[in-house]
Amino acid sequence: EKGGWSSFMKKEISEEPDAVANTLRGRVVGGTVQLPELDGVAEELAGINRVLILACGTAAYAGMLGKYAIEAWARIPVDVELSHEFRYRDPVLDERTLVVSVSQSGETMDTLMAVRYAREQGARTLSICNTQGATIPRESDAVLYTHAGPEVAVASTKAFVAQVTALYLLGLHLAGQRGALSEAAIAAQLGELEAVPHKLQQVVDAVSGRIAELAHWMSDTQSVLFLGRHVGFPVALEGALKLKELAYIHAEGFAAGELKHGPIALIEPGQIVFVLVPSPRDPSSLHKKVVSNIQEIRARGARVIAIAELGDVAVVPFADEVLRVPLAAPFFQPLLGVVPLHVFGMELATAKGLDVDQPRNLAKSVTVE
Ligand code: F6R
Repeated sequence: EKGGWSSFMKKEISEEPDAVANTLRGRVVGGTVQLPELDGVAEELAGINRVLILACGTAAYAGMLGKYAIEAWARIPVDVELSHEFRYRDPVLDERTLVVSVSQSGETMDTLMAVRYAREQGARTLSICNTQGATIPRESDAVLYTHAGPEVAVASTKAFVAQVTALYLLGLHLAGQRGALSEAAIAAQLGELEAVPHKLQQVVDAVSGRIAELAHWMSDTQSVLFLGRHVGFPVALEGALKLKELAYIHAEGFAAGELKHGPIALIEPGQIVFVLVPSPRDPSSLHKKVVSNIQEIRARGARVIAIAELGDVAVVPFADEVLRVPLAAPFFQPLLGVVPLHVFGMELATAKGLDVDQPRNLAKSVTVE
């Protein structure tokens, strides 16, 4: 089933463009979102005043991107919570809360229990799931399937980009339903989303070889840090999780704005730091702020690997290495920027002689607490 691939993970990273394309298929028609799966709960969706996203691990990072996008587009308050934290703390929710669970397997015990608990409290439940007929979608009011195809490697890769795609479709659907965005604005975002698979393919093709080289000379590294801001922050967390689980080294993701509040003390000569650089075309001033973070950590001896947009020359003088991704509107940058980090996790584990498909101590679906 691996075909000619050396690992399932390598195969599944190569399938990230298809995972997005297949999750979009039939759901974007003439600049509008078509989600007939949600017809049965249309009235309930129109009445919600809050969204709560529940998930674990990589799925929770997809959820964070969902939060940023759904709030920006649909103007509904959104929270993201780890399922295992949510279910043991007596949370507040009611029938106007839409609980969106995100799970590749649809069998994660903590997420299943959190969904059951939310239902008992009267919340509406929507499952974003990659596995047809799994327990979580069966127990939810509605389901939006991701179509990443079966994911075999323990580390989640193509499921992540498919989850983000589904959350973005949901955000644009809610924005349309509430009139929070104009039809033209929705069509423009959908156009960006439809352009993602092709751009993802470019990233997979362009960066893989260079990252394998980087991983090779870093194979003795004991610690890697990841910095991102806004939608780059969940990607930083995802990059760090992949290194922990695959290469068994200490890795941490930070919100770049947090640096001065503690993490910058970790920077010493030789520390490797990946930085997700926002686009210089963003109307926000985040590009400048992140470039100045790079200067600060560089001045303390960090070795910086920047993931930056094609044509961004401002980072070049300060980075030891720049990995390029195609231009995209802000919410779509993380779908591209995450690929080099997936590849890096895989390549560092490979360089250390580890089994990338079956990391120690982990199971593909966590059906126990
Ligand atoms: C990380 C990883 C895990 C899963 C998490 C949730 O690479 O694979 O963190 O994302 O266990 O699993 P699902 O999505 O099946 O609920």
